[in-house]
Amino acid sequence: MKINGEAYRTIWLTGDGWSVEVIDQTRLPHEFVVVPLKSMEDAARAILTMQVRGAPLIGATAAYGLAMAIREDASDEAIDRACAYLAKQRPTAINLRWALDEMRRAVLNLPRADRVAAAYARAAQICDDDVETCRLIGVHGKALIDDIAAKKGGTPVEVLTHCNAGWLACVDWGTATSPIYQAHDAGVPLHVWVDETRPRNQGASLTAYELGSHGVPHTIVVDNAGGHLMQHGKVDLVIVGTDRVAANGDVANKIGTYLKALAAKDNGVPFYVALPHSTIDWTLDEGMSIPIEERSGDEVLKMPGRLPDGTVVTIEIAAPGSPAGNPAFDVTPARLVTGFITERGVCPATREGLLSLYPERAGG
Ligand code: MRU
Repeated sequence: MKINGEAYRTIWLTGDGWSVEVIDQTRLPHEFVVVPLKSMEDAARAILTMQVRGAPLIGATAAYGLAMAIREDASDEAIDRACAYLAKQRPTAINLRWALDEMRRAVLNLPRADRVAAAYARAAQICDDDVETCRLIGVHGKALIDDIAAKKGGTPVEVLTHCNAGWLACVDWGTATSPIYQAHDAGVPLHVWVDETRPRNQGASLTAYELGSHGVPHTIVVDNAGGHLMQHGKVDLVIVGTDRVAANGDVANKIGTYLKALAAKDNGVPFYVALPHSTIDWTLDEGMSIPIEERSGDEVLKMPGRLPDGTVVTIEIAAPGSPAGNPAFDVTPARLVTGFITERGVCPATREGLLSLYPERAGG
């Protein structure tokens, strides 16, 4: 997607052929800063500190992190160590483990001398595949928006989204936002309600930044506004992303997603989850066993922002001494999800629905 007219992906190989650069998402929307990642440790730190975040981008960054580790030491033991280290940085998004498994498969049967080239080739392919996968999610999701637009006779389709499942969370396009971008680009009138997404404000800081940069009409609302908007007929559909989908269709996504799904169900608003194949955890029978990342209470107690003079500062927003809890994700039961939008099409949020699109996964 474009920033100030220039096309970007969220991660790219630099001219040296082995290190990568990423957009530092902790600095957005106030500053656009590109940071180099020159080692596996750099990649792990970028994932942990959320300079890169969003399930597919975490996976892509880990893939290049492992390639950089293999460049240092291509032994089986070193690869195992690097995978374990990268995998533990963020526990909920399955794409991290998926990407590392893909990387291992690409190199482990090769002679050591061939492993570096194979690792970089697989990391590049993971990124390219993610771009195409997200583009296809957009094609299928746009059809849903088109259907609603046809019934609204020119009044904008009202979409609500939570967190950032946009191109910044992926390599390009986004998952939840890809249908939005493609519908907007095709001239379908639409407007997006952007949940601010406390505590880290990925909606206000990242989704709104993305949509604004692309010229998509949008409005930031506090997380608690969604139910009210739905009660008043101001939301035609909800589209969110996900960090892990269990085989039965339960969905882990940014904390607060579950409440949006409940409100959508109560108000008869379609609630769709957009995801690539790499987000499905076929090993989990149900979502309650998905590990939920518990993050620092500081993210709840403090908030970064820009002062009128342009300085970016972090302020305290709570009574001194109060402790804070910070579960980063929740699980939305499959029964609250209208359907999944994947690169292979739209399906019901059930085991049978997923298997209808991924029949090769039948039997485990
Ligand atoms: O904690 P984050 O910012 O990594 O959480 C991101 C989300 O919850 C996204 O909705 C999810 O990763 C889907 S990304 C296409």
